[in-house]
Amino acid sequence: MTKIALIGAGNIGGELAAAIARRELAEHVVLFDIPQKESFAKGKALDLEQNGAIEGYDTKVTGTSKWEDCAGSDVLIVTAGIPRKPGQDRKDIIGTNLPIIRNVADNAKLHCPNAFVIVISNPLDAMVYEFMKRTSWPREKIVGMAGVLDSARFQLFLAREANVSVKDVRAMVLGGHGDQMVPVASACTINGVPASQLVADDKFNAIVDRTRKGGGEIVGLMGTSAYYAPALSAVAMAEAYLHDQKRLLASAAYLSGEYGYSGFFMGVPTIIGRGGVEKILEIALTDAEKKMLADSAVAVKEIVDIVNAG
Ligand code: LAC
Repeated sequence: MTKIALIGAGNIGGELAAAIARRELAEHVVLFDIPQKESFAKGKALDLEQNGAIEGYDTKVTGTSKWEDCAGSDVLIVTAGIPRKPGQDRKDIIGTNLPIIRNVADNAKLHCPNAFVIVISNPLDAMVYEFMKRTSWPREKIVGMAGVLDSARFQLFLAREANVSVKDVRAMVLGGHGDQMVPVASACTINGVPASQLVADDKFNAIVDRTRKGGGEIVGLMGTSAYYAPALSAVAMAEAYLHDQKRLLASAAYLSGEYGYSGFFMGVPTIIGRGGVEKILEIALTDAEKKMLADSAVAVKEIVDIVNAG
């Protein structure tokens, strides 16, 4: 039996549970939240189970505030913590989310030591780092979700500009999940056709800029963080792991010398299969992209330093 525990029953947690149930990606989905929100988690779970009668899925969805109920999970997806509010940078919420991720990490180690962990909580690169540092989780079993989401935003904007289906746009965003992220122009194609043949340079640069601020754009509009695309991005990663798909996805992975960086998490192309992060691919980048990645690494290290000092 496959079991997935969702740590945080908020907006992303709910969308995660719905998507997992709909796909029957697991037989049992656990929506976990703090004791004050336990009945909310139970209510959301019940609503989703009842939806199975309409949509036709048998997935068991339960709500809880007890870590014991998460025991034996194959995958743990962490959204615990507060989301950004308009005007806030991801690093403005470190102070609040750091103790939360520490508590989650300690309990995960105790109750779900074999799980493949996908962290979504912000600031992403710092939260996934803290989780691993505190637990010594095996590096291939822990990733941060950002690259799939940032790539999706990049792909959508490119598709709209080129006036083609988003299904045919392949693109990747590497680096940290912040304003310095690196949309990789040299790896951008529309069904194999270099995107540069369909998108003019000035438009391309504007798309890069919009992608980098893509999360903030939605926070500005909604007053809180995005949740549909973030949830489905993590589901794609969980599915790649559970079904041993060996997908090439941009993930925040722990670096040990790849691209010249060590000792922190940053978005890189990874192969995700049943072994977790089975491989980090070192793709050829242009000099300009290498420089952008270096700038992004500086920004990531800045927030990692805050976490190490806190
Ligand atoms: C975003 C949040 C999930 O980028 O970080 O929308």
